[in-house]
Amino acid sequence: MTASDETIAESDLTIIAQEVRGCQLCPLHQGRTRAVPGEGPPDAKIMFIGEGPGYHEDRQGRPFVGPSGQFLDELLAMAGLKRSDVFIANVVKCRPPQNRDPQPEEVSTCTKNYLFRQIDAINPRVIVTLGRFSMALFLPGEKISRIHGQPRASHGRLIVPMLHPAAALHQPQNRPLIEADFQQLPAILANAEEQAAQPAAPVKPDDEPPLEQLSLF
Ligand code: URA
Repeated sequence: MTASDETIAESDLTIIAQEVRGCQLCPLHQGRTRAVPGEGPPDAKIMFIGEGPGYHEDRQGRPFVGPSGQFLDELLAMAGLKRSDVFIANVVKCRPPQNRDPQPEEVSTCTKNYLFRQIDAINPRVIVTLGRFSMALFLPGEKISRIHGQPRASHGRLIVPMLHPAAALHQPQNRPLIEADFQQLPAILANAEEQAAQPAAPVKPDDEPPLEQLSLF
């Protein structure tokens, strides 16, 4: 990313965050304390996408600041990463009541208006999905228990599906799995950087729809 691309991405992200904070496009805005646009550097090479804000995130307006976030920080450290290196966002930007699953309409409204625009602005080399809602945006029909930790190309992006950190907090037997997956991230990123540095492969017809047109459920 050149310095001017970075400035453009930064201002796009600022505009998106302002829109998110005032959003009333779906019923989730009614119960929120604060919307949680997401945060991180505009030129982040890795973007993490969780499900949606929980209690602590709703209070603070920042992603992954509760117990799942503390564990995410530990996982990032295992991958040699700091929070300030990565962009962290969610599928939906407002907390669903009682932490219920986000509804298909809420997911499609929020991703179309905000998340996919954030991805376009940042243009990360690698997207790490945290949990099944985030994975389903890019790899519909897959089972996370089968493909976690395995990088997949989807819609022109490299997706690494991971378990949600909360899954390891609630079921400690998942902890070694998620830790091992995070420890693979430096190699996956290095490989993706190497591929990006290669001369462009001949363009083949793209039979996959752009993310904005995906039907999620
Ligand atoms: N869980 C999520 O999916 N996202 C957050 O921001 C916090 C917890």
